[in-house]
Amino acid sequence: MLKLKLADKRNVVSAEELDAAVQAAAPVLAQACQGEAQYADSQGWLDVQEWAGEEILRNIEAIAARVRATCDAFVLIGVGGSNNAARSVIEALKTDDGPEIIYAGNTLSANALNRMLKSLEGKDFAIDCIAKNFETLEPGASFRILRKALAQRYTPAEAASRVICTGTFGSPLEQLCTDNGYTFVPFPTNIGGRYTAMTYVGLLPMAVAGVDIRALVQGAADMQRRLHAEAAGENLALRYAVLRNAYYQKGYKLELLAAFEPQYRYFYKWWTQLFAESEGKDGKGLFPVAAEFSEDLHAVGQYIQDGAPLMFETFLDVQERADSLVLESDGVKDNFDYLNGKDFYDINKIAFNATVTAHSEKLPCLIFEVPALDAYNFGQLFYFFQFACYLSGKLLGINPFDQPGVEAYKGWMFQALGK
Ligand code: PA5
Repeated sequence: MLKLKLADKRNVVSAEELDAAVQAAAPVLAQACQGEAQYADSQGWLDVQEWAGEEILRNIEAIAARVRATCDAFVLIGVGGSNNAARSVIEALKTDDGPEIIYAGNTLSANALNRMLKSLEGKDFAIDCIAKNFETLEPGASFRILRKALAQRYTPAEAASRVICTGTFGSPLEQLCTDNGYTFVPFPTNIGGRYTAMTYVGLLPMAVAGVDIRALVQGAADMQRRLHAEAAGENLALRYAVLRNAYYQKGYKLELLAAFEPQYRYFYKWWTQLFAESEGKDGKGLFPVAAEFSEDLHAVGQYIQDGAPLMFETFLDVQERADSLVLESDGVKDNFDYLNGKDFYDINKIAFNATVTAHSEKLPCLIFEVPALDAYNFGQLFYFFQFACYLSGKLLGINPFDQPGVEAYKGWMFQALGK
């Protein structure tokens, strides 16, 4: 079961202070569990069943089986919320028995796009263009060059059979599918991109990669049940939301997410986007950043320990002993004999504990104990952080479901491009 521990040697937020703030925030939890009319067009994720029920899962599995049987590669075209959840799970859990998953629609770099096209040479492939309104430049432009690549490789009918689009009903993307004979699956109209992990958006590419999406959905559904049942005082999401707002009020303006498992590399991107786009508005919000330990201890570790006290740290600490690799002496005098007979699993844990001990002298550290690094627990984490982000945004006094700030640069860009 996901658990939260606190390491805060300076007692920045005392246990009494935290309990009182959590009790004061109880109405926020009650409101969120019921859902709110003002956010009705953004809360299709609150009940996991709505977009990850049996019928949808069967359809996803059928489409994924077809792709897996006919493709060496699968291109996920999407940016931000249309890409991050799927990529975080695929890059952590993919096995070698499915198509290679290639990403597009997330860059405007000619170099990166040429490399992406080159990586498809000699491979049978299919594409999934995931775009809520089909107005975003990156996926729209990538979709074009990939349609051309398909047209050059296959007959028109075969090329069309290799195109999937995930778009909203009534959008130009749906029309394009009807006109060209592409497979269309729905992007929920009542969920914004960054909350779509448990829908066609996240689940279809994961299923193509061979991820156990039923375990993932089960994890999310169990977390939904837990967070909607736990009383305010014990509610894990509320306690986390209250804590991060309390630290923010006390002058900690950054939250640093870190783990000692590199498999979380793309999960950091999902988490960072979720909190940055949800909370960074109206001149407020914690700035979410991430670090990959132990590697980044040799980079940002210096700043964390000794630099300006800007941040608090949130760790994901995986509990399962899933892997083992024991270091033996090879007879060469290399000054590392103190490691003889030790397992990397234990060395990594010792490094984690030492880091928390050192960092918590300077800044508050929150530790989420994650039972295992598997599909079920990814489902738990997705639902947990989405729900906590909703609560946290409400406590901060902003709308956690819009992102008006991202339009500013687009205005200048589209003007310059003559849109
Ligand atoms: O979370 C969000 O709403 C955004 O990050 C979107 O997912 C992102 O901008 C991509 O939008 P679209 O799917 O419309 O291309």
